[in-house]
Amino acid sequence: QKPIFILAIESSCDDTAAAVLQDSKVLSNIVAQQAIHEQYGGVVPELASRAHQQNIVPVIDIALKKANIDKSELSGIAFTQGPGLMGSLLVGSSFAKSMAMSLDIPLMAVNHMHAHILAHFIDEEGFDKPEFPFLAMTISGGHTQIVKVKSFFEMEIIGETTDDAVGEAFDKSAKILGLPYPGGPLIDKYAQLGNPKAFSFTKPKVDGLNFSFSGLKTQILYFVQKNVKENPDFITENLNDICASIQYTIIQILMDKLKLAAVETGIHQIAIGGGVSANSGIRATLKEGEKKYGWKTFIPKFEYTTDNAAMIGIVGYHKFLENKFNDASVVSKARIEF
Ligand code: KG4
Ligand code: ZN
Repeated sequence: QKPIFILAIESSCDDTAAAVLQDSKVLSNIVAQQAIHEQYGGVVPELASRAHQQNIVPVIDIALKKANIDKSELSGIAFTQGPGLMGSLLVGSSFAKSMAMSLDIPLMAVNHMHAHILAHFIDEEGFDKPEFPFLAMTISGGHTQIVKVKSFFEMEIIGETTDDAVGEAFDKSAKILGLPYPGGPLIDKYAQLGNPKAFSFTKPKVDGLNFSFSGLKTQILYFVQKNVKENPDFITENLNDICASIQYTIIQILMDKLKLAAVETGIHQIAIGGGVSANSGIRATLKEGEKKYGWKTFIPKFEYTTDNAAMIGIVGYHKFLENKFNDASVVSKARIEF
């Protein structure tokens, strides 16, 4: 059978990314990160869309060159339709549309959240693919969801956050500790050197499979303020222990709901995705679930956890196989129904 070559473009937030796939295999996966947002302590939408404009042509060029593919060989183009920042999404979608039109090849609009889940279907040595149905927990800077995945294009959200996303809980806690944005990876780094039971925070009471993280953030703020008042060096003297304790609490909150979801659905194949699935504590705790609860767990390769275009490409490939094409009238969506 003739190989299918998909070019994928992801521009939902601050990173401009492009990838080339041959069927389920990734030939290239390029991400241009926008360092500018660090100075502002978060993503500035206007600056993000401008940087996408500057980055998109070189990033796609590099992705094609690295894959050793000429654009005339492409079978189709996939792009992120949403959710995300409108000004950022528009750069990727406009580029994808005009390129597909000029090459006269199919265009596939991809839901970014589906992509975080379906990244597990990329061919990678040493990584198994889940079987349907499975549970996916998508944990990122914008989302916290437990999803029942019935097939490539049939998914049901069975639990989600009622306020902050788990990535925000990491980033906002880090900010309270005076760490730079995004603080999630730094909390992870310091937590590895600290005692997770040094300080205790209470877990929120939320019904069913839903999550809440805004209370934890407030609790951490008061805890830090009170201790710094008594000892101005409290944070520096206890940074590793504070980070370990925060991370431990967040992991417990996630694991409690995941365990409940597995019991309620009777599904024991569990996958994680999204930027926060890079967290070493979450990865280790989930893996323990294999022995403790008889789960089979799926943890993505590091480069497919945070935003990337390869995950958009794998969804594009499966859409291509099922002739799920879009025409140029398809619109970007900041919010998108699942
Ligand atoms: O999926 P992603 O790249 O972008 C969104 O779609 O949101 O996720 C970014 C989030 C940020 O909140 C970042 O702090 C968090 O993922 N993150 C981590 C780690 N690496 C990234 N959080 C905790 N531990 C990590 N190692
Ligand atoms: Zn994401």
